Amino acid sequence: MRISRSPTPASQTRVVVLTADAAFEDSVRATFSASSQIGLDVVKGRLAEHGEIDLAGATVVVADVDATDAAELAALEGLMLQIGSWPPVVAVTQDFDAAVARRLTQMRVADFLVKPVPPVELVRTCARVAKPVASAETTEAQIFTFLPAVGGAGVTTLAVQTAMLLLNSGARGKAATCLVDLDFQHGACADYLDIEPRLNLSEIEPRPERLDRQLLEVMISQHPSGLAVVAAPNRPAEMRLFDPDVVTRLLDLVSSHFDFVVFDMPRTWFSWTDSVLLGSDKLFIVSETTVPGLRQAKQLVDAIRDRLGDGPHPQVIINRYVQKMFSAGLRKSDIQQAIGDAFLACIPNDYGLVREAIDRGVPLEEVKKGNRITAQLRKLVLPQVAAKPAKDPADGAKKFKLSWARS
Ligand SMILES: Nc1ncnc2c1ncn2[C@@H]1O[C@H](COP(=O)(O)OP(=O)(O)OP(=O)(O)O)[C@@H](O)[C@H]1O
Ligand SMILES: [Mg+2]
Repeated sequence: MRISRSPTPASQTRVVVLTADAAFEDSVRATFSASSQIGLDVVKGRLAEHGEIDLAGATVVVADVDATDAAELAALEGLMLQIGSWPPVVAVTQDFDAAVARRLTQMRVADFLVKPVPPVELVRTCARVAKPVASAETTEAQIFTFLPAVGGAGVTTLAVQTAMLLLNSGARGKAATCLVDLDFQHGACADYLDIEPRLNLSEIEPRPERLDRQLLEVMISQHPSGLAVVAAPNRPAEMRLFDPDVVTRLLDLVSSHFDFVVFDMPRTWFSWTDSVLLGSDKLFIVSETTVPGLRQAKQLVDAIRDRLGDGPHPQVIINRYVQKMFSAGLRKSDIQQAIGDAFLACIPNDYGLVREAIDRGVPLEEVKKGNRITAQLRKLVLPQVAAKPAKDPADGAKKFKLSWARS
């Protein structure tokens, strides 16, 4: 049984409907009440008469506006500016002509519908605009991998937050981003985001050729933010070894349908680990601010260099760092010295903030905007995105295949 954290858990699709039309409200309530997966909030009244509307956690907003009323359209425009790129807004109007269509397009609503709206059309439209942002075309993802040097160092926390940053890094709207939990035995990504894990490797294993884009879509869990998550239910009492071909096939498929992929790695080295590390654009080793933590990080850097040569460039992140001004304790210079050129940065310690985010199943930014952990991660992750050189498509595809080849 799952422990529910909030009346509207993040795994639930939350549709917010803004309407002053009682008949439309009745129809919407009838349409959405059938599903326990969908939480419906109706905000009554004309849009122009509302102040700021609380849309926290909304997956889709349906805004019913009177398109003949300039104040209503101006209010919708204001709402669009307030919302930014997410959640998507579906506009519903009674009257509709080319001028209204143009105005709504300029506001960048995700879609618009004209009354009377058939319930099935409304559901389909909401589902479509809130769908996984995986692109239909094949792309080559930028891959960010987080590997632990010690247990409990914060790999899952940093992987989840990085995925959120990448998701929101798109120039226009969200960037197609997928977080993959490769810790099949003790994975926590789905729990940290309060979503149901849907990956079933045992189902893929007997017939790996079945794994195509369609099956992948079934195995992706969707976070209301728009983040796609590939995670399997935990089997803590099982020691399962998955066929490396199945795992690499899955990763190949994920990588070719998203702009950004983030891997949360286990501590154990599996037969597919080399492939993941070689296929990564950025490889972050996460450790803690203790002498053994630094030693293990350094050992892991050396082991990766010995084993895989100059392919992956491991960089060490020391998490939960507390700057000590006067007392004894490890300083940044000590860390730098212990780890050498592979040392990248420290992430500040803020247990209260991280715990609240995990308990609520939401990103850190939702608990505290502009917090120091996200700010530091942003500095580490987003320049990497900007620095990615434009690639020759033919070249990219070749490198991509080679990089996933098993040694
Ligand atoms: N920067 C931080 N400041 C304070 N607490 C943190 C920070 N990062 C992670 N934590 C806390 O450390 C604990 C371990 O974090 P997390 O689960 O992310 O680590 P992990 O490396 O994935 O662990 P595991 O080895 O179990 O997979 C959690 O309780 C989390 O709240
Ligand atoms: Mg973890």
